[in-house]
Amino acid sequence: MSSYPTPTLTTKRLTLRPLAPDDAADLFAVFSDPAVVRYWSAEPWTSIAFAENAIARALDGYREQSEVRFGIELAETGAMVGTVNLHHFFPQNRRCELGYALGSPHWGKGYATEALQAALDYGFHELRLNRVEADIDPRNGASAAVLERMGFRKEGYMPERWFVHGEMADTINYGLLRRYWDARERT
Ligand SMILES: CC(C)(COP(=O)(O)OP(=O)(O)OC[C@H]1O[C@@H](n2cnc3c(N)ncnc32)[C@H](O)[C@@H]1OP(=O)(O)O)[C@@H](O)C(=O)NCCC(=O)NCCS
Repeated sequence: MSSYPTPTLTTKRLTLRPLAPDDAADLFAVFSDPAVVRYWSAEPWTSIAFAENAIARALDGYREQSEVRFGIELAETGAMVGTVNLHHFFPQNRRCELGYALGSPHWGKGYATEALQAALDYGFHELRLNRVEADIDPRNGASAAVLERMGFRKEGYMPERWFVHGEMADTINYGLLRRYWDARERT
């Protein structure tokens, strides 16, 4: 049985750290915004209970070391502005999935690029992953830009995979291999 602890990581402008019960209000602010869940098959959160439940699930995951769930905190202000997760681990195959979101007031400042760089570095170097997968809505240009900057490659296209806010939505499958990551680090 492999274990996947969630440590605290620091970057130039961010602290990636385990979520705590005190983060409920900040987390609610992020995921109650329709712009943030625009391309997800989930509705915006409508009460703080959604945040409390998500944090309770994260705390279970930390105890079991079954998933890596970081809150993204701005080093300058201490505000918790988003999350980045490594989840759905397949230990035998050294593979997992990646998810991330930032509060919309913080978009376009390079924070996702910085947070994903740190989380993926942890995944490949400390957790010894071989492959990380992401699937995104083809209309989600900012998300595609961040994944491609990390070295993810487009691997597939699945039409009408999700029901997203009243309509069927397609998926682009992305994959990042350890050898792409290592090659990117060398250049
Ligand atoms: C996707 C997301 C995390 C990006 O966060 P961010 O901090 O704004 O990302 P960054 O600033 O690091 O980089 C965004 C890049 O996308 C580019 N971009 C933004 N909107 C774009 C669009 N519509 N089309 C193409 N590129 C776009 C930006 O120009 C930037 O590239 P640049 O630095 O070369 O200019 C953020 O938009 C978000 O949380 N969205 C909602 C949740 C979500 O969709 N999560 C991912 C899906 S699983």
